[in-house]
Amino acid sequence: MKKKDYFEISLEMLKEKKIFPFHLHVFNPLNKQYSSYLLANNPLTQKKREFLEYIIKNGGKLAVAFGQKSTFLEETETKEEEVPSLKDAEPHPLEKARKMYQKILEDKDKINGPFIFQEEMNKAVEAENFAIIIERTHDEIMTLPVNLSSTVSLAVHLTDLLMTEDNYINRVVAVAYQLAKVSDMRDEEILGDLVCAAFLHHVGISQLDIAVSRKAFYAIPDEFRKEYKKHQGLAHHLIKKSGVELSKRCIDTILEHHERNDGSGYPFQKMGNKITPLALLLGAVSHIFEYATGKIDGNTRSIKSVLSSLKNKTFTPGLEFEFGDTIYNNLIYLMEKEITSNAA
Ligand SMILES: [Fe+2]
Repeated sequence: MKKKDYFEISLEMLKEKKIFPFHLHVFNPLNKQYSSYLLANNPLTQKKREFLEYIIKNGGKLAVAFGQKSTFLEETETKEEEVPSLKDAEPHPLEKARKMYQKILEDKDKINGPFIFQEEMNKAVEAENFAIIIERTHDEIMTLPVNLSSTVSLAVHLTDLLMTEDNYINRVVAVAYQLAKVSDMRDEEILGDLVCAAFLHHVGISQLDIAVSRKAFYAIPDEFRKEYKKHQGLAHHLIKKSGVELSKRCIDTILEHHERNDGSGYPFQKMGNKITPLALLLGAVSHIFEYATGKIDGNTRSIKSVLSSLKNKTFTPGLEFEFGDTIYNNLIYLMEKEITSNAA
């Protein structure tokens, strides 16, 4: 029986009552365990009360299970704030934030109607402004349970710190996250892995020579392009060195975000289902924004024109299509005007 399953009470809180509708437990400081002392609706005789006093005097604690908190408070006419151990058991600030954002999302949906990614994506692409999608994604990520894994916890932390404006990396994180949901990748651990990978997938570029990292890919002299192609491995190296604990799926997503379905990617030329699905998805989203901002061939373009080229399979130097049918079709679907309930 774990400590978090119980809250401690004083003997005085039981007042002079002898029968209670809740069980009493005692904490033994020697083995640091809780054990049952008196079952509900059994009398607390004078002898048992005296033995409890003896236990408490010798470092033991009287406790009630959290599951019976309301019963205890009601029966003993005690206010929650009068029980010190219940104050200690206040939820973690991130858990409080989670509940707050769940309420924010509920309220926003009531006022604005449900968030439909396809509809918002069309508006964002038209206006070249992703602020609404980023804000929505921020609020959704803040509702992920941080105790699922250290990767999910880091995803929430990075989102809270960084996802406050419409910039390149926040666009990649937000669109990848929403695209994953449209692609039926709704598991919270998977989404957490994707968010961390999206935030960190290009952190390795900071380790490249400035003459390489600041150039469009096609402007990098041939002999240095292989240096650029090491940026995923460098990201992995940096993350390992910093001691940040990430799931294997998250690391694989970072390492493989330039792998392509037909084996044309790098560094391992993996094909099809040998590639982590999240890597294909992140690779597609990252590629679209990189291509639009001129990081591939030096020419900036609207997101709309990049998506249009993808949709029409207009082959343009540097524009990639090989993200697998599922990701490709879902990307194209986002640009369709007809809204269906599946997009919600
Ligand atoms: Fe990359």
